[in-house]
Amino acid sequence: MPKKTENKNILCIGAGYVGGPTMAMIAKKCPDRKVTVVDINADRIKAWQSDKLPIYEPGLAEVVSETLNRNLFFSTDIDKAIEEADIIFVAVNTPTKTFGEGAGRAADLQYWEKTARQIKRCAKSDKIVVEKSTLPVRTAAAMRRVLSEGANGVNFEVLSNPEFLAEGTAIRDLEMPDRVLVGSAETPSGLAAREAVVDVYASWIPRERILTTNVWSSELSKIAANAFLAQRISSINALSELCEKTGANVSEVARAVGADSRIGPRFLKAGVGFGGSCFKKDILNLVYMCESEGLTEAADYWRSVVDMNEHQKNRFVKTMLRAMFNTVAGKRIALLGFAFKADTSDTRESPAISVAKLLVEEHAQVVVSDPHAIENAKRDLAGLEEFVTYERDPYKAVEGADAVAVLTDWSEYKNIDWQKVYDLMRKPAFVFDGRNFLGHAKLYSMGFHVYAIGIEPKSHFY
Ligand code: UDX
Ligand code: UDX
Repeated sequence: MPKKTENKNILCIGAGYVGGPTMAMIAKKCPDRKVTVVDINADRIKAWQSDKLPIYEPGLAEVVSETLNRNLFFSTDIDKAIEEADIIFVAVNTPTKTFGEGAGRAADLQYWEKTARQIKRCAKSDKIVVEKSTLPVRTAAAMRRVLSEGANGVNFEVLSNPEFLAEGTAIRDLEMPDRVLVGSAETPSGLAAREAVVDVYASWIPRERILTTNVWSSELSKIAANAFLAQRISSINALSELCEKTGANVSEVARAVGADSRIGPRFLKAGVGFGGSCFKKDILNLVYMCESEGLTEAADYWRSVVDMNEHQKNRFVKTMLRAMFNTVAGKRIALLGFAFKADTSDTRESPAISVAKLLVEEHAQVVVSDPHAIENAKRDLAGLEEFVTYERDPYKAVEGADAVAVLTDWSEYKNIDWQKVYDLMRKPAFVFDGRNFLGHAKLYSMGFHVYAIGIEPKSHFY
């Protein structure tokens, strides 16, 4: 007899970049389970049910259309969905606190706590509550306390199952993850809940890739993984500055360093700085946790990863200024790319936001172009309309521009007709490659003054 799937009904609270794609993949891979995704934002829920999904992610539309209203449902009726669910993933946002104790560093857990209280209020049967959001270590203990007092005989197990997907490659990451991590209490009921969550993933992921740990290790591992990844980027970016001073080429250095199998080649690409909703937030959270435990040196160590990233963004604009005769006032500067990386419409913490704002402070006329992120860019730069315009077509964006700064590694910018770009621009024409991915020698031979990161500039002036 086939094994009966227990804990059949899955719910996810939070239909964002994490909750939406993850649940769509679970629905695809577990057709016998009902997967419901709820959110307080009714517009978002409506968008998930429409042809225009709320986020751009390659391959996502196909997975959603295959599963929508088959076993994947979106709803705003959170109370009812909680009542019906067996396993509840919580993927609401956990931004950096902007007020009070720990402001600017600690995670703001108010949405999480509010959600936990709502789960307690609506639950009429036992629930497995799974932390999908990235949370400070030991949050599960606090949540268990919130859930258990006054629970009217209902039992809650709080587990940690952080999501490691990266935007732009979310579908591939969900389909073939390097690992899935499930942390639980090591009590009989905790272990049973662990097995229930492991079972969901075991539908398509080999068991040996599903790591199980205690809850605290799981919570901390997610933050630690992001901190390690970001630390590599800040390390190579720190070297990029030295390369520019010494004639070394940072791409060559990264290749040589990354060829060491102990180091590996990925996340060693120098650039204008890392963005995205996670790296900065999670490292600041790590800094705050270290500080709270009196670990000053560890806190300072991790804070420097974020400081280096801020420096890299500022440095990029300083290079632009210096190259363009110390003034960009009134100059038209086209920003090609506004998303924090290619293949996403997400602009959260995008280095392009800092670059645009710094250029506006210098009174440049900024034109923002991006294949998918213009709507988000408009929100990020609201109030700066005197200095910023938007143009989806890159050729129109560069028309009459003094400089082009490539800030997102969209492949369409690599393959653009750069001769045409040059012809459309005012001379001297400058290109600033914030992603180190253009053919610099070719651009130089066309007449551009070429500035990249960690590589000596190729200027016709000297
Ligand atoms: C975010 C963080 O970026 C990530 O680090 C964390 O691990 C999970 O939350 P993401 O999915 O990218 O991930 O966030 P976002 O796109 O903002 O989605 C969160 C969703 O939760 C939003 O749609 C928001 O409306 C919803 N939400 C928030 C609720 O449904 N209820 C709440 O009380 C608060
Ligand atoms: C990251 C983690 O990779 C993922 O595991 C976690 O779940 C969420 O945070 P994400 O922010 O979506 O994912 O994208 P990622 O590919 O990690 O890139 C983050 C930033 O670093 C981007 O701005 C990217 O352009 C930049 N980056 C990445 C570099 O500057 N150099 C590199 O070598 C790699």
